Amino acid sequence: MKIIPINNNGINNLAFGSCFRVYSPKAIKNAGNCFGKDKIRTSTNIFREDLDWYALIQYIHSHFADKEKVQVYSLACSDGSEAYSFAMSVLEYIPKEYRSKYLPVNACDIDKEIVKSAAKRRINIDNIEFLISEKYGNVKIGKYFCDQKEIVSIKQNITSDIDKAFSYRPVKDLREAVLFKCSDILTELKNIKDNGNSIIFCRNVFPYLSKRYADAVAETAGEKLKNGSLFIIGDYDAYADIDNKLDKNGFFQPSINNRFLHGNNIFQRGSSEEITKRLNSGFLI
Ligand SMILES: C[S@@+](CC[C@H](N)C(=O)[O-])C[C@H]1O[C@@H](n2cnc3c(N)ncnc32)[C@H](O)[C@@H]1O
Repeated sequence: MKIIPINNNGINNLAFGSCFRVYSPKAIKNAGNCFGKDKIRTSTNIFREDLDWYALIQYIHSHFADKEKVQVYSLACSDGSEAYSFAMSVLEYIPKEYRSKYLPVNACDIDKEIVKSAAKRRINIDNIEFLISEKYGNVKIGKYFCDQKEIVSIKQNITSDIDKAFSYRPVKDLREAVLFKCSDILTELKNIKDNGNSIIFCRNVFPYLSKRYADAVAETAGEKLKNGSLFIIGDYDAYADIDNKLDKNGFFQPSINNRFLHGNNIFQRGSSEEITKRLNSGFLI
């Protein structure tokens, strides 16, 4: 597992398009001793580049065509970038009459500080996110964020070390499309009542979790989610072997048009054989 510790100036090893705005003491505590005494940065950004958001939104609209309501969760949501990315994709690409089927997104994080800040409905955005959003989400995010001001200060946040970041207020439609609460992944998963109609974003968090907790997440997802529901991870989660854990608990990777080089990171409850059967008998997938 490769975790990059922050050094004295706090912004070493900046990867393309990431904004290191969240530094979560709780996540570090959960990580146990495996990181020694190093500080760990956690990061997020709008339309994070490890998912083809546009392909995802196209897929779900046919995949869930026979469902009246789709429950969407962003577990380990950080400052809300992920939940807002999905919500913007819905607002942009799903016909108006179907939008309420996918919204609001239920977002939670274990870190009280970040949830408190997210719930105030201002979000720090680095200028580069305006560019990557077009590439990875096919969305010009300028129309969804207004009222540019100085960045909001969040305890142990390191965005202030990065130039060209400002805070914004999501526009009303976007604000109403995401609900925030402080909770942990396992608690939320255990409470889900699924009917093959859920999308669970649980991304770029597994390397912070103990093996026991990560195993329990994969097992609970396998127990709670019915065939057809989606569990979506991030590139970073491969370091914690989560793809194999999901595989063992009844998930497979559907073939989705993915325009980028990384894995598609989308797992579906069920098996590819069963999906082929459904397709052959004229059902939607
Ligand atoms: C790297 S961020 C990922 C944010 C977002 N999902 C993404 O992919 O951009 C990791 C987040 O996981 C949160 N976290 C860590 N352990 C958690 C747990 N057990 N339950 C919920 N959130 C957790 C941290 O507080 C942090 O905000």
